[in-house]
Amino acid sequence: MLAIIGGSGLSQLSNLPISRRQVVRTPYGEPSGALIFGAIGDHEVVFLARHGYGHTIPPHEINYRANLWALESVGATDVLAVATVGGIPSELGPGALVVPDQVIDYTHGRKSTYFDTSEKPVTHIDFTEPYCQTMRARCMKAVEAAGDCCIDGGVYAAVQGPRLESRAEIDRLARDGAAMVGMTCMPEAALARELNLCYATLAVVVNYAAGRGGNQHAIAFDEIAAVMERAMGRVRHILEHLVEVNDG
Ligand code: HPA
Repeated sequence: MLAIIGGSGLSQLSNLPISRRQVVRTPYGEPSGALIFGAIGDHEVVFLARHGYGHTIPPHEINYRANLWALESVGATDVLAVATVGGIPSELGPGALVVPDQVIDYTHGRKSTYFDTSEKPVTHIDFTEPYCQTMRARCMKAVEAAGDCCIDGGVYAAVQGPRLESRAEIDRLARDGAAMVGMTCMPEAALARELNLCYATLAVVVNYAAGRGGNQHAIAFDEIAAVMERAMGRVRHILEHLVEVNDG
């Protein structure tokens, strides 16, 4: 079953007729909210709003372990995570969609593994390719089927937040090779890999990163809401095609 994790701007799927809600308890505590089951077309999906349904949980406080565990425990095998990001190069302006293929983790202090107790043997997952290539390809195909367009690949820099970055920090991320900056993909992607979930991110650029585009001295916050709303409409449409590609 496909799981969809919604980020900022996507705390509900208006095109998802809901069949039931389920509160899942995990050994790692509470997920961000109840899991929402429904069908897009004939395809069953499970949805979880990463920041909670009232968008109250900041990126560094999200219980990523509980979220992924809960989704796996109800039978999710594939995960598409939708996440908003700031774009770093000029071609990643507001409204661009990207399916990243690499990640650099700049976060700290987050609980980022299931293998941290002495009851389990030390385990090192392979993370050379941090995203599931199958899910990335399905996502690209769904974007095409939806008649939309999306950039295939790019390095996602996962930062701690919740503040945005300084201009110098973005310059450093650019030197490191990052194309986009966001706050939630790690440890989410790594935990998904630990659970053998086929996980990819659909990144939605909602602003130019600090110091980029017209944001030389400040981020233009007033423009973000409208960009996000428009882009999430496109994302919902893409999801309608993704369920076809995923089960087909
Ligand atoms: N920086 C970090 N995270 C973000 C940004 C940003 O500019 N935009 C959306 N999420």
